Amino acid sequence: MNKPLFEFFTNDHRRIETWLDKATKHPGKIDEESYHQFRTGLLKHIKMEERILFPAAQRANGDVPIILADQLRTEHGAITALLVLPPTESVIKVLRFLLVNHDWLEEKPGGMYDICENLTQQETDQILQQLNLATEVPVLPYNPADYALDSAKRALIRAGFDFDEIVITT
Ligand SMILES: [Fe+2]
Ligand SMILES: [Fe+2]
Repeated sequence: MNKPLFEFFTNDHRRIETWLDKATKHPGKIDEESYHQFRTGLLKHIKMEERILFPAAQRANGDVPIILADQLRTEHGAITALLVLPPTESVIKVLRFLLVNHDWLEEKPGGMYDICENLTQQETDQILQQLNLATEVPVLPYNPADYALDSAKRALIRAGFDFDEIVITT
């Protein structure tokens, strides 16, 4: 089956990963330009899912919420909170861990992208058009304050992840 939405979003996952790989290529030294591309790319990606893809799927589902969307939105909150922090080794580790899990929930057979693709088959072209018009999300400078880290840790807990445990065990 032709899966244009699946392809659009999974290609974007790979593009975003490439920026993160570039940003962290030299251990102990972040390439700020590549990390900026990673941050803006990921925030735009989340925006496209939350504002365009997920709502279109829910509408096509007779306005019945898609169960998986709730978990994915909570994870988006955790990812966004991590992107506020300076990219320390720990933050990068946790981001990578979260992204692997998150992207799989969306990409796996029968996952969120398949669900959305199936529900919105009648309007794929309109959705692609909206996606192509989506604009970037402005990013703020990093917030190095302790409260920002605490708030990211709480957002992770809500999504079922433990920041400190991931840092120690991965
Ligand atoms: Fe997502
Ligand atoms: Fe995604």
